Amino acid sequence: MTNNVFGIDLGTSTIRIFNGRNSATMVEKNMIAIENKNNVFAYGDSAFEMYEKAPDNIQVTYPLTSGVIADIKNMQVLLRYFINDVSKGNYKNCEYYIAVPTDVTEVEKRAFYDLIKDANLKPKKIMMVEKAVANGIGLGVDVKNSQGVMVVDVGYNTTEISILSLGGIVLSKLIKTGGYKFDDAIRAAVRREYNLLIGFKSAEKLKMSLHELKQKKEKAVVYGRDIVSGLPMEREIPTELVDECLREHFKTIIDNVKIILERTPPELSADIYRNGLYLTGGGSLVSDFGTILANGTGLKVNVADQAVESVIDGIAEIIKNDKFKSVAYVR
Ligand SMILES: Nc1ncnc2c1ncn2[C@@H]1O[C@H](COP(=O)(O)OP(=O)(O)OP(=O)(O)O)[C@@H](O)[C@H]1O
Ligand SMILES: [Mg+2]
Repeated sequence: MTNNVFGIDLGTSTIRIFNGRNSATMVEKNMIAIENKNNVFAYGDSAFEMYEKAPDNIQVTYPLTSGVIADIKNMQVLLRYFINDVSKGNYKNCEYYIAVPTDVTEVEKRAFYDLIKDANLKPKKIMMVEKAVANGIGLGVDVKNSQGVMVVDVGYNTTEISILSLGGIVLSKLIKTGGYKFDDAIRAAVRREYNLLIGFKSAEKLKMSLHELKQKKEKAVVYGRDIVSGLPMEREIPTELVDECLREHFKTIIDNVKIILERTPPELSADIYRNGLYLTGGGSLVSDFGTILANGTGLKVNVADQAVESVIDGIAEIIKNDKFKSVAYVR
């Protein structure tokens, strides 16, 4: 008998696990802190707390890079910890539904399956779901009966642009830009214009507060290390500088959306034009991106209410609702 069902959205920055038993979703940073090369010192959000602050003998890393599993060993360890936590140690003989990106190699795709198979969890069944399909369902689109649905998921350092029709993927492209690239661009601009070195966490905080700052017409205050004096320093950064350095990354996404639209069969294009595209992923929450994307593509942009959770919400729906079961497949 099946013990329980888990849904997994294995994001590059964040892992989300849906627990079928109580319908709760765990959300944690997909990070591990290893001490002296072999002891797990911390994992999840507590590992993230240490990021950029840990001494040299503690390595804090993300096992995923650009949406695919780069460090299988640490990812297995992490998954075991997380599943153990959500199941309170009761995880043998369970079913797993995991979302996978589409535009990756067969080997990279298979790694998601192998991860669960080899993590010592004794799974009963492992089902795969294309991430864009889970996104569509999570966003409330009836993907099985719709012809021509465009989903743009701006994640951590990838953006997945997909066209769905009748429950399947017609086209999908994974491009290397996302929230991390936005943070990196902010860091580079602050360094270039103000001789100030800031950390990724500070850059991310600035990015997330951008919308509010613009509304209040205030400058951002950042703390870092002055490159010239080497001393800690506070600086005020105008929001225009941030807007300017993000523009190039937004353009990359807009250009790629257009490329996909050019390759889309005309009948599906008509549907996309009528319904607009669906924008999701944490990275899409950056100030004004929805409007900029709408202006750049000429399409209506439906902005997700729960942009960081649409994939896991979709997987939860697939698990709970027999109507959607057929979109999941066995490897
Ligand atoms: N309110 C916000 N404003 C701006 N950016 C945000 C906001 N909330 C989250 N982000 C950004 O979203 C990014 C993470 O997005 P998300 O959680 O969708 O990625 P992921 O699922 O972990 O990765 P991926 O899907 O690319 O493998 C981070 O760069 C984060 O800074
Ligand atoms: Mg994601």
